[in-house]
Amino acid sequence: MLRLEKISKSFEQRGTVLDKLDLTIEEGDSIAVTGPSGSGKTTLMNIIGLLDRPDSGNLIFQGESILDLNPGESARHRNKNIGFIFQDHLLLPHLTVKENIMLPLFATSVSAEEYDSKTGYAENLMERVGIKSIADKYPFRISGGEAQRATLVRALINKPLLLLADEPTGSLDAKNADLLGNLLVEMNLEYKITLIAATHSFDLAAKLKQHMKLENGKLVK
Ligand SMILES: Nc1ncnc2c1ncn2[C@@H]1O[C@H](COP(=O)(O)OP(=O)(O)OP(=O)(O)O)[C@@H](O)[C@H]1O
Ligand SMILES: [Mg+2]
Repeated sequence: MLRLEKISKSFEQRGTVLDKLDLTIEEGDSIAVTGPSGSGKTTLMNIIGLLDRPDSGNLIFQGESILDLNPGESARHRNKNIGFIFQDHLLLPHLTVKENIMLPLFATSVSAEEYDSKTGYAENLMERVGIKSIADKYPFRISGGEAQRATLVRALINKPLLLLADEPTGSLDAKNADLLGNLLVEMNLEYKITLIAATHSFDLAAKLKQHMKLENGKLVK
């Protein structure tokens, strides 16, 4: 479903970060990317999510080259196909948990019917990840583990094909990290959402089907 061909990226102060990196990902796969701090994991995730551009190389999503999309098309591709989870939950403080979760729907125009069906979907997912009781709370009233589970539901609300998780358990204690890791795996298996997680956690990496290391700008087994 996703192919990276000879992706290179360098930054002026740092030099080459990604060096003709190749990666092929099948639909429904789950891949952990590990590597030391500064090895380029976030850079790679941002390129896959079209949040950043490589200097050269090709990015093929479901058979289509997506690097030459215009900004509007890129945004549509992201909103429709990709869910993001970052280390810090990035929930908006002035919206409740449930409002935060429903937010991605407003990036596209949704019919009342679609909104209702997504509301039901959100409620099921919230129940599933154990945050239904906090749906009407504001983010500052909930724990980090709950916030990260809310972020997971928000990332899934548009039923993306690909879930990109950059250090999703990095700010969680061991128990919550384990819980979130298990939920990521369950979502990958049940909904066939392809999962790429960049992480320092070998516990999380061990839960996924593949484990790749980012070394000298390339991914190695
Ligand atoms: N926008 C930028 N401008 C300049 N340098 C950057 C930029 N983004 C990343 N870098 C540099 O590229 C290198 C790779 O950074 P990146 O954030 O991808 O690493 P990482 O593997 O995600 O690290 P960590 O494990 O700490 O999250 C680092 O040396 C970083 O300083
Ligand atoms: Mg990073």
